[in-house]
Amino acid sequence: MDVRGKVVLVTGASSGIGAETAREFARAGATLALVARNELKLRTLAAEVGKAHVFPADLGDPAAVTAMADHVKATVGVPDVIVNNAGAGLWLFADETTPEQFREQAAVPYLAAGYVTTAFLGDMVRRGSGRIVVVNSPASRIAWPGAFGYTAARWGLRGLVAALRADLRGTGVGVTEIVPGKVSSDYFANNPGSEQRIPRIASIIPTVSPEQVARALVNATRRDRRRTALPVMMRLMLGAAWASPSVTSWLSTVTGARRS
Ligand SMILES: NC(=O)c1ccc[n+]([C@@H]2O[C@H](COP(=O)([O-])OP(=O)(O)OC[C@H]3O[C@@H](n4cnc5c(N)ncnc54)[C@H](OP(=O)(O)O)[C@@H]3O)[C@@H](O)[C@H]2O)c1
Repeated sequence: MDVRGKVVLVTGASSGIGAETAREFARAGATLALVARNELKLRTLAAEVGKAHVFPADLGDPAAVTAMADHVKATVGVPDVIVNNAGAGLWLFADETTPEQFREQAAVPYLAAGYVTTAFLGDMVRRGSGRIVVVNSPASRIAWPGAFGYTAARWGLRGLVAALRADLRGTGVGVTEIVPGKVSSDYFANNPGSEQRIPRIASIIPTVSPEQVARALVNATRRDRRRTALPVMMRLMLGAAWASPSVTSWLSTVTGARRS
C-alpha cells in the first residue's frame, strides 16, 4: 500500500513503539489518528508531526472504543491502516495473579485489538481496502515462566491475527503481524518487575529500538507483508520455535524466572 495521503490510526501512540510508528508514517506522508489515554502526550506528538488528530481513550473499555471510533470517522473518516499497538501487562506467575490482574492483562492488548478492529472493520470491508497491523510479542509463540496472563494474552492476539486472516480473505483488507524481540521503550519501566523475568536465553537476541520497530512496521505495511519479526536473531528463534516447539519451550523454561 502506498501510505502517502492515507489515514493511519495508531493505538498506544503516546509512547515507545506507537509514538515512533506515528512519526515514521507521518514522514511517509500519512495523516495520523493518535490514540492512547495520555492526551497531553498525544497533543505534543501531534504538534510535532503535523497532520495528526488526537483521540484519547481507554482501550480496555469497549464503550470508550465505540465512542472513539465514532469520533475518528466523523473527523478523518474510516482509517486505511489500523495499528493495534497499545499494550501493557505485568509479568506474574499464575499463582501470584489475582483475577482482576488477569482481566487487566487481557484487556490491553488482546481485547483492545479486537474492540478497535471490529469498530472499523465493517466500513473497511465495504470499502474493499485497508490493513490491520498487530504488534505482538515473542510470548505469542514461546511460553516462559513468570508471565502467565501476559503470555496468554499474546497467544490470544496471535489467534486474533489468524482468525482475521481467515475472515478477510478476498475482501481487500490485509493483516500484518509484527513480532519484535526486546525493545528499548519504557515498557519495562511501565510494568515493573517484568524485565527481571526475561529468560536468560533471550540475551542472545539483541535489543531493538522503537525506531527500528517503527521502520519495520511501516515497510511491512507498504509491502503488504503478512508478518515481520526483528531482529534477525528473533526470526531465527521463532523459526526454531516453529520447527521444534518442545526444545524452545524447554530452553525458555530452564533459563527462565524462578519463584523467590
Ligand atoms: N518493549 C518490548 O520489549 C516489547 C517487545 C515486544 C512487543 N511489545 C509490545 O509492543 C506494544 C507497545 O509497547 P511499548 O514497548 O511501546 O511500551 P510502552 O512504551 O509502555 O507503550 C505502551 C502504550 O500503550 C498505551 N496503553 C496502555 N494501556 C492502554 C489503555 N488501557 N488504553 C489505551 N492505551 C493504552 C500507552 O499509552 P497511555 O498510557 O497513554 O494510555 C502507551 O502509549 C505493546 O503491546 C507491547 O506488548 C513490546
